[in-house]
Amino acid sequence: MKLSISSTTSRCIILPLLILYILLYPLLPAGSQFINKGGTVTVDPSPYFLLGSNLTVYCHVRECKRSYKISLDLNGVTVKDRKEVNCNLAKFYLPNVHMPQSFVVCKLRGVQSTKIVTGLDLHGGLPPDKPEDIICEVTRSSDFIGCLWKSGQKTYLPTTYNISVNRENGTQIYLDQIQNAEEIKIPRGIVDKTKKYQLIITAYNHFGVSQSNPFILCVKEIVIPETPHITNVEFENGSISAVLQWKTTDLSVHLKPYVRLCTYNSSWDVREETELSDTLIRVGDLTPLTEYEFQVRTCNSTFRVNHITVPSFTPGPTSSQRLPCSKWSSSVLARTPGKGPSQRLSVWRVFNSQQNVTVFWKPPPPQDYSGEVKQYNIFLASDQIKEVTCREASCHSSVLVPAAVQTLSISAVTSYGSSPPADVPLRHSGEVGPVLRQPAPAANGSAVYVSWSWPQTKSWSTSGGEVLLHYVVQWRSVPATKLWWQEVEKNQNSTSITGLTAGVRYNVSLFAVTTRGVTAPSSVLIYSKEQKPASGPNLTVLLHEAKRIQILWDELPVNQQRGFITSYTLYIQTLDSSNQALRGFPVEGS
Ligand SMILES: *[C@@H]1O[C@H](CO)[C@@H](O)[C@H](O)[C@H]1NC(C)=O
Ligand SMILES: *[C@@H]1O[C@H](CO)[C@@H](O)[C@H](O)[C@H]1NC(C)=O
Ligand SMILES: *[C@@H]1O[C@H](CO)[C@@H](O)[C@H](O)[C@H]1NC(C)=O
Ligand SMILES: *[C@@H]1O[C@H](CO)[C@@H](O)[C@H](O)[C@H]1NC(C)=O
Ligand SMILES: *[C@@H]1O[C@H](CO)[C@@H](O)[C@H](O)[C@H]1NC(C)=O
Ligand SMILES: *[C@@H]1O[C@H](CO)[C@@H](O)[C@H](O)[C@H]1NC(C)=O
Ligand SMILES: *[C@@H]1O[C@H](CO)[C@@H](O)[C@H](O)[C@H]1NC(C)=O
Ligand SMILES: *[C@@H]1O[C@H](CO)[C@@H](O)[C@H](O)[C@H]1NC(C)=O
Ligand SMILES: *[C@@H]1O[C@H](CO)[C@@H](O)[C@H](O)[C@H]1NC(C)=O
Ligand SMILES: *[C@@H]1O[C@H](CO)[C@@H](O)[C@H](O)[C@H]1NC(C)=O
Ligand SMILES: *[C@@H]1O[C@H](CO)[C@@H](O)[C@H](O)[C@H]1NC(C)=O
Repeated sequence: MKLSISSTTSRCIILPLLILYILLYPLLPAGSQFINKGGTVTVDPSPYFLLGSNLTVYCHVRECKRSYKISLDLNGVTVKDRKEVNCNLAKFYLPNVHMPQSFVVCKLRGVQSTKIVTGLDLHGGLPPDKPEDIICEVTRSSDFIGCLWKSGQKTYLPTTYNISVNRENGTQIYLDQIQNAEEIKIPRGIVDKTKKYQLIITAYNHFGVSQSNPFILCVKEIVIPETPHITNVEFENGSISAVLQWKTTDLSVHLKPYVRLCTYNSSWDVREETELSDTLIRVGDLTPLTEYEFQVRTCNSTFRVNHITVPSFTPGPTSSQRLPCSKWSSSVLARTPGKGPSQRLSVWRVFNSQQNVTVFWKPPPPQDYSGEVKQYNIFLASDQIKEVTCREASCHSSVLVPAAVQTLSISAVTSYGSSPPADVPLRHSGEVGPVLRQPAPAANGSAVYVSWSWPQTKSWSTSGGEVLLHYVVQWRSVPATKLWWQEVEKNQNSTSITGLTAGVRYNVSLFAVTTRGVTAPSSVLIYSKEQKPASGPNLTVLLHEAKRIQILWDELPVNQQRGFITSYTLYIQTLDSSNQALRGFPVEGS
């Protein structure tokens, strides 16, 4: 017992030590801390270097140890290009250093162990670019003039900007300094609002100095409208547009508002939208169920500037070329509501009997609504509603329609609203409709092109108030199974019906739907592609006399014909001879 306890304790003491050692060791080179100052590292030309420079690093160790070799790690990788000057000093070449932040660690490598001598951080950088695109702006009520500029490419090192404001005769009246920034605020009180001043920005860092072109600062030319605020966002029902209410402390009479908006990931989209009133703007074309960020700014529409008549969102370099626009307001976040379907459904019907009607409809296109279709409502006579759920690409339901009822309608119900009801035409107009022409099968065997024309006598302009609404092309396989249909716009006179199966006979019918009702159909039987019959007909011998037999055969079932039968061939064989074809018959006989 005792032994086991003591052995656990000792393991517990040794373990943390080992872990500490392992943990500490690789951490040491990071930064410029080192365990014992066993020497120095120097860099030629300097640990602050221009990116892309060739550096020479000297590693100088205090104690000369024969069994150890001086080595250098750059960012954890041993430097190969090394020259030993003597046993205290080694020289390392680092060509073309492009890393802005690096560190070198000087080590003594022995056979048994490695000792860290010292380390050093290296800072690469670039001289500053000339500050460009200076803009200064002030609102009527502000105590500060805000100036912005573009600092150009990244320097990687602290870069200071001296901002000086000078009188026209060159006397400096103001100097301020800011580091790593692209904007500064200048007290308005230092300048006379009618006089012109020069603003000069000087950028400098370890590698150089760069001065901007002078910017002419004249307060009365840089006044911009006050920053407006969005006070309310409302979405209009159904249509995906928002109404923003905004306000400003300026007189808003001559201020034109602009809106910019973005969604979570996107960049700003600047829009000039419909103004509903002085303080209301409608923003259209939004996506349902999306979080938007809105901002508003105003531009002074009475302000006259040479050559520029519309606001420029990329202001020029001097104050006289910009249009006075306020800063963008702070953002307001709002989520658009869902959208109900806006288009009526495509509907059709087939009579099973005088009063029993199967109604067909297609689900609304997914881009027309958000959420899910919960159900379809079929509005029957006297406020009766039949609710149907359907998840198919084509839906149907049979309903009993009293003779007096002339239309019923169908609407899709989603979580965010219902589609406008689509009327199912029940009435027959009792008229002759357009006539289908001979259909043309497509080469791929799964589609047929159908076209039609109206009888010469039919003229729409003279048919007393009757209006053509659209056409319906309906097709179903023979023998009758499923029904398909397609609505065709009234200005069309042809369509392709697709998704057909080769070897299947279809009955294609065309109807015209008018305000008076549905015309009588024009029908045609088609194959998208004819195939060989699946079998031969069964035949029976009715009469067998000397030199004469009478035979009868059944017509093949349609699904075995797989094409239009054009002729039968009768084969006859005597028992003592080989097959002999007699002749072909036209299809009429059976
Ligand atoms: C760095 O040294 C290479 C040769 O090793 C030379 O070609 C190059 O010009 C040098 N680069 C600079 C910036 O001095
Ligand atoms: C920037 O301004 C400071 C005084 O605030 C001055 O000492 C320094 O020389 C200026 N630098 C340049 C590059 O003009
Ligand atoms: C520049 O003008 C100001 C006032 O207008 C004056 O006080 C100053 O002496 C002038 N400086 C020079 C160098 O002329
Ligand atoms: C919003 O709905 C109301 C009734 O609920 C309706 O009167 C109004 O026209 C609808 N507005 C829009 C823009 O659809
Ligand atoms: C944001 O963008 C990333 C990548 O571009 C994408 O994976 C992500 O789904 C987007 N998020 C939203 C909310 O659009
Ligand atoms: C708009 O510009 C005109 C002409 O410069 C100026 O008189 C007016 O005060 C400005 N309005 C605002 C709100 O800044
Ligand atoms: C209407 O006819 C269809 C097909 O013939 C049949 O399935 C359905 O039960 C009938 N509906 C009613 C309400 O009689
Ligand atoms: C067959 O051709 C028609 C018309 O050329 C086309 O609409 C249809 O998509 C095609 N079908 C296939 C499966 O390629
Ligand atoms: C179909 O309409 C086109 C013009 O849209 C016309 O040129 C063509 O003659 C029409 N065909 C028939 C069969 O009416
Ligand atoms: C084809 O369909 C029409 C319309 O439903 C129908 O009147 C006609 O009898 C059908 N023809 C055949 C051969 O089934
Ligand atoms: C021929 O007769 C057989 C047996 O009665 C029957 O199974 C088969 O379906 C018939 N074939 C055709 C094409 O009528």
